[in-house]
Amino acid sequence: MPDERAVYPPAPAVQARAFVPSMADYEATYRRSVEDSDAFWAEQAGRLDWVTPFETVQDWSFEPGDVHIKWYEGGVLNACYNAVDRHVEAGRGGRTAFLFEPDTPGDGDRTITYSDVHAEVQRLANVLRDRGVGRGDRVTIYLPMIPEAAYAMLACARIGAIFSVVFAGFSPSALASRIEDCDSDFVITADEGRRAGRRIALKANVDAALRGCPGVRHVLVVRHTGGDVAWTEGRDVWLDEARETAAAACPCEPMGAEDPLFVLYTSGSTGTPKGVVHTTGGYCVWTSLTHELTFDYHAVEGGAAGDVFWCTADVGWITGHSYIVFGPMINGATQVFFEGTPTYPDAGRFWEVVEKHRVTQFYTAPTAIRALMAKGDEPVMRSDRSSLKVLGTVGEPINPEAWRWYHEVVGEGRCSVVDTWWQTETGGHMLTPLPGATPEKPGSATRPFFGVVPEVLSPDGERLDGEAEGLLVIARSWPGQARTVYRNHDRFVNTYFTAFPGRYFTGDGCRRDADGDYWITGRVDDVLNVSGHRMGTAEVESALVLHEAVAEAAVVGVPHDIKGQGIYVYVTLVEGADATDALRDELRRHVRATIGPIATPDFVQFAPGLPKTRSGKIMRRILRKIGENAPDQLGDTSTLADPDVVASLVQNRRNQP
Ligand code: PRX
Repeated sequence: MPDERAVYPPAPAVQARAFVPSMADYEATYRRSVEDSDAFWAEQAGRLDWVTPFETVQDWSFEPGDVHIKWYEGGVLNACYNAVDRHVEAGRGGRTAFLFEPDTPGDGDRTITYSDVHAEVQRLANVLRDRGVGRGDRVTIYLPMIPEAAYAMLACARIGAIFSVVFAGFSPSALASRIEDCDSDFVITADEGRRAGRRIALKANVDAALRGCPGVRHVLVVRHTGGDVAWTEGRDVWLDEARETAAAACPCEPMGAEDPLFVLYTSGSTGTPKGVVHTTGGYCVWTSLTHELTFDYHAVEGGAAGDVFWCTADVGWITGHSYIVFGPMINGATQVFFEGTPTYPDAGRFWEVVEKHRVTQFYTAPTAIRALMAKGDEPVMRSDRSSLKVLGTVGEPINPEAWRWYHEVVGEGRCSVVDTWWQTETGGHMLTPLPGATPEKPGSATRPFFGVVPEVLSPDGERLDGEAEGLLVIARSWPGQARTVYRNHDRFVNTYFTAFPGRYFTGDGCRRDADGDYWITGRVDDVLNVSGHRMGTAEVESALVLHEAVAEAAVVGVPHDIKGQGIYVYVTLVEGADATDALRDELRRHVRATIGPIATPDFVQFAPGLPKTRSGKIMRRILRKIGENAPDQLGDTSTLADPDVVASLVQNRRNQP
């Protein structure tokens, strides 16, 4: 049980210059944001440059049969213009946009200004346009963490194409299903990616994926490592060659506030990943406001160069979309853009980069903090961290021990720590401390951001007030909310608005303490969170049953010291297959190849049978407890069709891969 009495006041140095410098300020603004919502959000829209002002601030309903979400209707704008052009037009083109830090220190680091981004994005947009990509077309982006990934997203936004970024760690088949689902006919990739000194064959993965996607017309390839690639004449295009013949100037397409900006696939408890759709106006307002206030980001400081922000996420996830590309760039931020990993060449890498670029706000995942904490304090102490002001975390619950290490060792007890709870579907921060105002508690995401109305419900949908534990729902819309699932609005409605009609259901459990602070307890559905990566148990199970030796599979999450959750797999083999260690390894490799390395099972247990109800439903609750090594907490097993399978599963539990 976390110690709720441990309360850390906001860091004085942050508070002294904060946009929101006290709880009284937070509370007054929060009240206004919900009680006078139209006025508040109309004012916030002023953060952006609009071609045509909007007519209505909000028009939404969470009611069954009428679920729709619209913000800033009638408004016309362009996301790329807001993130890039307007800074250049205002004479800020010389400001650094990206401090690129390559995988291997010193191997190609460079400084990229907003003018540079402006030029690159226009060229790339013209390369797309010259090949027939236009408004509403879907472009799949499968790139490593190089600046071209941001250019590609911005170039699509510029011409009104809908981009779908697929994390470059996903396998060819995961990539193929995401290309197919949104019917995309254009892919942007690189020859290879780099990771901890190794090379990842991205173009080869695309080639493999496209064997099943005949509709793809072009693959635009960034020359990154110079490694050898196979080439399909007529389909494949080198970016560096195509840009030579592309025009330098490309106008921004005027887009409606509710025109889709991107699709991003995310896992749910059932079926294949969903293509979550974010639109233009509300998303840009939400990401820029949350970036500025949650991190207390100051673009200029008394006329001098401003803060240096660093989010270590990959652009393949929502965190990279919202807190590398859109939020910070709309705010004209200077950012570290990092190709590397936390422990390469060694566990001091993050802090060397912090020292080198005088990073002020640093944003990472609990899994990285735990991995580094395990390496001890010395790699941290080696570098000067005096520039740091705000330390953020995202993606999974942070255990209080890791929170304290982050605060005390990394931040020298001097920085505010913001534990930000949000989701792919929320577009940006929902529950978070504001670093100059909110008293922080290790393990708590504390309070709702402006405009967010969280509620805690009992399993039967009754609202629980005051101190309570239950299911987390959001009672009203906010500008950054996902609008639909791509071409499947029914799935959107069923997933988020059916369990508790009139509310957005997050899929998370939470507790609200006596002070009104929220503590996320984790997913309440069959979604895993492995190293902050969201994954459906159903996806891993589908991958397993593709293997010829597997008759049936059940997957559960178990606690894991570094990853937060590990993947525990039960498999029933087909007649005649031998339950050997070699097969165990083969199944792990098989899942890795089918989905990607992040889905590699941690434990594989061969199960002669699975615990099922008499109607044939697998009882995961029991499998979870066995995986956790808590056989005394199995609960009622009397409803099982064959109670004997449980004893055998308990006896053969795995504590190694
Ligand atoms: O369970 C919550 C967990 O991550 C889920 C959302 O995953 P995804 O859509 O991939 O987005 C991750 C990055 C925003 C949530 O349903 N989660 C995210 N942030 C936190 C968290 N759990 C606890 N504390 C957090 N700060």
